[in-house]
This record gives sequence, structure tokens and C-alpha cells, in this order.
Amino acid sequence: MRTQVVIIGAGPAGLLLSQLLDLAGIDSVVLEKRSRAYVESRIRAGVLEDQFQELLRRAGVGARMDRDGEIHDGMNLAFDGRMLRIDLAGLTGGRTVRIWGQTEVTRDLFEAREARGGAVLDCAEDVIPRGFDGEAPYVTFSCGGASQRIDCDFIAGCDGFHGVSRASAPNDRSETSERVYPFGWLGVLSETAPVASELVYAYSPRGFALCSMRSQSLSRYYLQVPAATNPDDWPDDRFWDELRARLPEALADGLETGPSIEKSVAPLRSFAVGAMRHGRLFLAGDAAHIVPPTGAKGLNLAGSDVHYLSEALIQWYFNGDPVALDTYSDRALARVWKSQRFSWWMTRLMHSFPDDPPFNRRLQRAEFEMLEESQAAQIVLAENYVGLPY
Ligand code: APR
Ligand code: PHB
Repeated sequence: MRTQVVIIGAGPAGLLLSQLLDLAGIDSVVLEKRSRAYVESRIRAGVLEDQFQELLRRAGVGARMDRDGEIHDGMNLAFDGRMLRIDLAGLTGGRTVRIWGQTEVTRDLFEAREARGGAVLDCAEDVIPRGFDGEAPYVTFSCGGASQRIDCDFIAGCDGFHGVSRASAPNDRSETSERVYPFGWLGVLSETAPVASELVYAYSPRGFALCSMRSQSLSRYYLQVPAATNPDDWPDDRFWDELRARLPEALADGLETGPSIEKSVAPLRSFAVGAMRHGRLFLAGDAAHIVPPTGAKGLNLAGSDVHYLSEALIQWYFNGDPVALDTYSDRALARVWKSQRFSWWMTRLMHSFPDDPPFNRRLQRAEFEMLEESQAAQIVLAENYVGLPY
């Protein structure tokens, strides 16, 4: 079998790349180890930057998002019971974000690939990128027990943090940068009305809480918990009581509770590779970087990576121009690191770090008070939240 680009991973990065390349006339095959049903069921992020929304429209998968996804022109920080609204639109010349679950993005992308006859092979096992340090890369894998090989021009590693692509690249540990946080997020999905019309990021000495949503009848809440927390130790009543305890009283009093329809714990990590290109292997999305979800940047960074990589491949195939491929890694990492900074800053501001000395806790309060008093500080937050330029 032969194709132009083999894409490993059918998450948002892999599917979006495949769709954009297909629309430009470039063939690809997507190899996914999980079933489509499993990938579509994964509950992940939900805040889309305007540039990511535009990418989805360019890919022909923006209609449902534009129809059903809520536009938010503000978000809120709560600190020890005080609320501060960040007027995203007012501070950024009218820019907003849209609430649209990653499960919806992935569903629309799978359907779009299917409609165009795109090759997405799920249940691909033992996928291994090979020969990418030369001019004739290929990928081996098995499907239903039969060994397969696909020869190609390029390999895109879109297989997430635990994928095979980064692990197959030359392993120079000095190149990666990582920070692991001493806590995770316990997330709950419930068929209840959201406690507020916009997102609320709440700091309390008991720990961080986030009030989000998927629609006006489907709420998404998170609590900061110790990293090794077992969700089974958090029956719904305990979750709701702790969430109330971490929110400003006015919000807590209006909280609508109900049975959780999904409950899970996600670790928090900041991670980035030193290089997103290794010969003819290109990394994109979580395969190359992980940000703590506090800044809502993970899915949006997968978008900017795919934008840069798809444009670079188009330049190579149709103009014979290798410059964009040669500069892909530096260009993508430049935006990744500015989002790493923002995600770390939001995490540092809004979480209760267990071993923090009093000085650090007082700094957190000073940071919040500076945000309350400085429009310039709010503009920096707002510009990062709605999305830095591609
Ligand atoms: N072979 C084939 N597929 C693999 C392999 C492998 N060895 N390893 C992982 N995969 C698949 C996973 O099953 C997953 O479906 O690669 C896909 C990677 O998708 P994501 O982890 O969603 O990563 P990405 O597409 O970069 O999207 C980043 O999604 O994970 C969220 O919060 C994250 O919002 C971020 C966004
Ligand atoms: C979510 O709704 O899942 C969500 C929203 C904002 C974040 C993280 C997660 O920063």
C-alpha cells in the first residue's frame, strides 16, 4: 500500500490534518489503535478559540458548531469568594470563544472523513513509523492479525502523549521539558443547568474548582484533587458538597445538582518536546506537548500545529517549496511555549499548591488583586484566552 502522508492517531489533530490535506488534494491514511466509538466517546476539552473554529469551517465541519455551540464573550475568576469577570470581547476588540465539546469536534471530523471516503483504519495495532530519517519512510502495523506496510512521503505523529511517534524519534531527553503538578482534576458531567452562564475558574484554600458546560442542560465541573485520587472515592454527594464549599456563596446557593453521567480524574502536566520534526516524521498535538487544562489550550494547540503542518505540506507538494516544512518545528513550538506560559500561569494562580509557603499564597492574592485593578493585566489574560495569533 502507498499514500502521500500516513497519519498516526485519529484524535482531533489526526482527523483534522487528514481532512485539510484531502481538501487540498493530498492523500493520507489515518491509523488509529482504538475503535471509532471509543475515540468519539472520550470526554475532553470544550473551549474553542476563534482561529480553531475557522479551521473547522475551512475543513467543512463547522456547521453544527456554528448552529449549536454557544458563543462566550466573557469568563470569570473567583478568588476566595470574590468574583472578577474578564470581558473577553471588550478587552480584545470583539473576540470571543465558543463552547463546543471535543467529542462533537471528533464526531464531525469522523463523519466528514467518511463522507469523502477518507481512509481511517481503526483498531490498527503495533503501528511503527520507520525510515523517516531517509527519503522513503513507511509505517508497519497489523490489522486483524495481518501484518501491513504503507509506504509514504511523510509521517504525521498525531498519536497523543502516550503514542508511538514521539517514542520513535531520536531520544534526546535533554530536549524535552516537563513539569508534573502535585494534583489532578476530578471531572463530572451532569445533566443539570450550569451554575453560571459563563465559565467560572475558582480559587479557594480548599483547592481549585471550575464550572463549565456543554450546553444549557449539560454541565461540566472539575475539582482539584490529589494526583492519585480514585474517582470511586467521590460519590456524587461528596463532589457537590465540595464544589459548593469552593465557590462564592452566591454561586453555591444556585448550584443545581444531579447524578453524574461521567466521572474521571485527569493528571496535570506541562510537557513539550525540543523538536517537532525528525526527518520525514512530524509531531502534532498532544504527541508533542501537553498543557494543564486550566488555560483551555490543549485542543487549540493541536489546531495551530495542524494549520502549520497542513500548509507546509501543501507548499511542498504543489510548489516544491520545503521552507515551511523546515521551519515547522520552530514555528509551532514558538506558539506552544507561549501557551505553555499562559497555562502554567493560570494553574499557578488558581490552584492551592499543597507545599506552598505563605509567601507564595500571598503572591497569588496579589496577582488576583493586580488583575482586579489593572485593565492591562486583564487584556493580557483575555488575549491569551481567546487565542494568540497563528
Ligand atoms: N497507534 C495508533 N493510534 C494511537 C497510538 C498508536 N500507537 N497511540 C495513540 N493513538 C491514538 C489514540 O487512541 C488517540 O485516539 O492517537 C489519538 C491521539 O488523540 P489525542 O490524544 O486526542 O491527541 P490530539 O489529536 O493531539 O488532540 C489533542 O485532544 O487529548 C485531547 O486534551 C487533549 O485537547 C487535546 C487534544
Ligand atoms: C471543559 O469544559 O471541559 C473545560 C473548560 C475550560 C477549561 C478546561 C476544561 O480550562
